[in-house]
Amino acid sequence: MDALIIRGGQRLSGRVEISGAKNAALPLMAATLLTSGVHTLRNMPLLSDTRTMARVLETLGAKVAFHGHTCVVDTTNVASYEAPYDLVRTMRASVYVLGPLLARFGAARVSLPGGCAWGPRPINLHLDGLNAMNANLEIDHGYVVGHDVRLKGADFHFSVVSVGATAQLMMAAVLAEGVTSLDNVAIEPDITALAEVLVQCGAEIEGIGSRQLTIRGVKHLWPIETSIIPDRVEGATFLAAAAITGSGLSIGNCEPAHLGVVLRVLEQAGCEVLAGEREVTVRGPVRPAAINVVTEPFPGFPTDMQAQIMAVCAVADGTSTITDNIYLDRFSHVPELARLGADVRMQNNVAIVKGVERLSGAPVMATDIRASAALVIAALVAEGETKISRIYHLDRGYEAIEQKLVGLGADVKRIKESGA
Ligand code: UD1
Repeated sequence: MDALIIRGGQRLSGRVEISGAKNAALPLMAATLLTSGVHTLRNMPLLSDTRTMARVLETLGAKVAFHGHTCVVDTTNVASYEAPYDLVRTMRASVYVLGPLLARFGAARVSLPGGCAWGPRPINLHLDGLNAMNANLEIDHGYVVGHDVRLKGADFHFSVVSVGATAQLMMAAVLAEGVTSLDNVAIEPDITALAEVLVQCGAEIEGIGSRQLTIRGVKHLWPIETSIIPDRVEGATFLAAAAITGSGLSIGNCEPAHLGVVLRVLEQAGCEVLAGEREVTVRGPVRPAAINVVTEPFPGFPTDMQAQIMAVCAVADGTSTITDNIYLDRFSHVPELARLGADVRMQNNVAIVKGVERLSGAPVMATDIRASAALVIAALVAEGETKISRIYHLDRGYEAIEQKLVGLGADVKRIKESGA
């Protein structure tokens, strides 16, 4: 297993190019199952999660090839409808194949994903919505199973805003018979991008970008040909790195409109922020100011940035509060940040972060993608050396992170660790 060794205290400078968004790429890869043919996805982030989704598609009989950052998926010979436990448990987003398989083949056998590092993460809305569309799903030996399904349009109200369930039901509805009305949908950029791509392929979707989608099922879609939108979470992670190190840097190939609330929060923390055309330049303060952050569905502050902003608050001047309303237990980074000297007290889903003047390097353990990113950010200012083990979590969601950080002047190296 690989680990990262980071020596803190370097100022960062320069410009880093942001990769395609993992959370946009994964549903689009699953959407290739909706129609037979050769699909081209450009600006594909090269991550272990996108490779896992490629393996899921291959298991179903698709051919997947990566040419640099272009992923070509040939779904002509898909002949299996089973997404096995071994793949789904390593990456929950594998369940995205359920809707497309039911919509195109009327059959699917997809493992239930189980829990994750920060709690139960249910998929009841995915199942309830598909059942409302006539899927008659059963749970059999840990698998969600549908046979002889003919999806029919339905009205479905999401009791909570769910990114995953919105993508799942949208993919199912585009080929269902009749009209589906989805209410209280997610409007994350990844969802809007998926809807727009489906429309380019011939789907009929109204209300894109609003909380209410009306989808008229069509008989056939064209193969996908698109470029994945920039990863707003990766971009925001580099901006947080500038904020904590008091550095000036630019992120390129990004979409500033997707970063709105994160940019405002960074300004509250004392950063100077300049949003341009597909780039953002930020200058971090000498010491960040304390802030109060609450995670919410887009356009609110993303749960995927909660851990990284906590690292910034750890060295802020004053006491910050960070509330995660999306995932109440998503705080596995707290004890690891404490190993670096952070002073964080939990009250249910609220972290009270009393800023300290300095952090000090220590061996720590990555526990999930964004928790790992928080440890990287904290390590950039911690005195001395921080060793972050189990960075396979980081590799799930950040392409070439150590090269990108080294390009900005950070002292980071990747080592092989035995037996970690
Ligand atoms: C969530 C984030 C997404 C992030 C991803 C990975 C939101 C709204 N979503 O997406 O931005 O990229 O985590 O970190 O911020 N829920 C149910 N039943 C379901 C599905 C979800 O109760 O069937 C609940 C979840 O427990 C959660 C909320 O709905 O409290 C949002 O979940 P959802 O958006 O589906 O989660 P992800 O797709 O994982």
